Amino acid sequence: MDLLSLARTVKDRVEEPITDVLAAARIVTDPRTPLLLALSTLVVTPLYRASFLASAAGSGVLQCLAVRPCDLDSLAEYLEVPDDRRRLRAWLDIGVRLGEFDMREGCYRLKSTPAKLLAQVGNDAVAATLEEIMRFHVPVLLDAPRMLKTGRGFSLDDQDGPVIARSSLALQGFVQEAIGKTLERDRPVRLLEIGCGTGTYVRHAAELNPRLTALAVDLQKDVAVQAADNMARWGLTDRVETRQGDLRELELQPQFDLVTLHNNIYYFPQSERVEVLERARSFLAPGGRLLLTSSCQGGGNLSLDVLNLWFEYADFGGPLPQEDELTAQLEKAGFADVRATQIIPTQPFRAFVGTNAPAATA
Ligand SMILES: C[S@@+](CC[C@H](N)C(=O)[O-])C[C@H]1O[C@@H](n2cnc3c(N)ncnc32)[C@H](O)[C@@H]1O
Repeated sequence: MDLLSLARTVKDRVEEPITDVLAAARIVTDPRTPLLLALSTLVVTPLYRASFLASAAGSGVLQCLAVRPCDLDSLAEYLEVPDDRRRLRAWLDIGVRLGEFDMREGCYRLKSTPAKLLAQVGNDAVAATLEEIMRFHVPVLLDAPRMLKTGRGFSLDDQDGPVIARSSLALQGFVQEAIGKTLERDRPVRLLEIGCGTGTYVRHAAELNPRLTALAVDLQKDVAVQAADNMARWGLTDRVETRQGDLRELELQPQFDLVTLHNNIYYFPQSERVEVLERARSFLAPGGRLLLTSSCQGGGNLSLDVLNLWFEYADFGGPLPQEDELTAQLEKAGFADVRATQIIPTQPFRAFVGTNAPAATA
């Protein structure tokens, strides 16, 4: 090696680390770097965790791993994924990377506290609420400006009926309290439940009054089928008929002592609510009562505000009701003795009761 080449080699070796340090310094001092790091920690990682947990709960993987640690093959069998083990492993490994799962001795197991809690059967409504937030609330936040431009609105098909039916049960305590306060127990009662979801509240009413019989109706076919399956599982088919139907098209005699609408008045546009309530009243026997429960606007609950936003962007339905407005609509629909009760102070959940007053005798 000549002297010149030697000098060049030495010079390069000395300069390399200096160049690396300078490049690293330039990257670290890029004003966007701290913002990216902060976003990643405070916003993106929680979003990834929520998405992963929602899908792990919704697919049943959490519940499966709660029973016992599972290897890739058993999870593939459970999820009925015959071929694509590579991509299933890639998804599961992200769960490990996020700290939700652990991988030991070839088996995945639950690691984080949220994963363990969401896997519990008693927390199914919370797991479904997380799925509802990720699948329905996130899209409205993400797409609202674009939807305004294109004029597209959400349809009922954008909702997953069975997931919503399960997530609605997060309000179970409120609704059951309202039923307990309204339902007569000392005589046979004929109940019509509109928008029955899982059928849980018909079951609750049937348990409170063993002489109660009911017709449970839901607009969505898959929801109605699931409610019918539940009635069979709960041994209630001889007392409860379940069918798919739309309140606006039901042809029924005025035979019911109680008509219930739980958590669905906002599935009807505001302009149609009086008509819908009149229709519900037409199914009541004289002296029969309507029990309508709903979360209302206000109250500072962020999830409810986003749910309200979703219905603002739906091409069916309308915003969550306001207490005074819905009370006035019930009165306009012909109900007497309309009362709105707050089940728990400070909570924006209300139970509305109105009576189909018997015709006055001359
Ligand atoms: C949020 S879910 C509530 C389910 C259940 N009532 C509960 O509280 O758990 C609303 C339900 O109302 C049903 N629904 C909406 N519009 C309806 C209509 N016009 N007739 C009958 N059911 C309807 C939907 O299909 C959906 O299952």
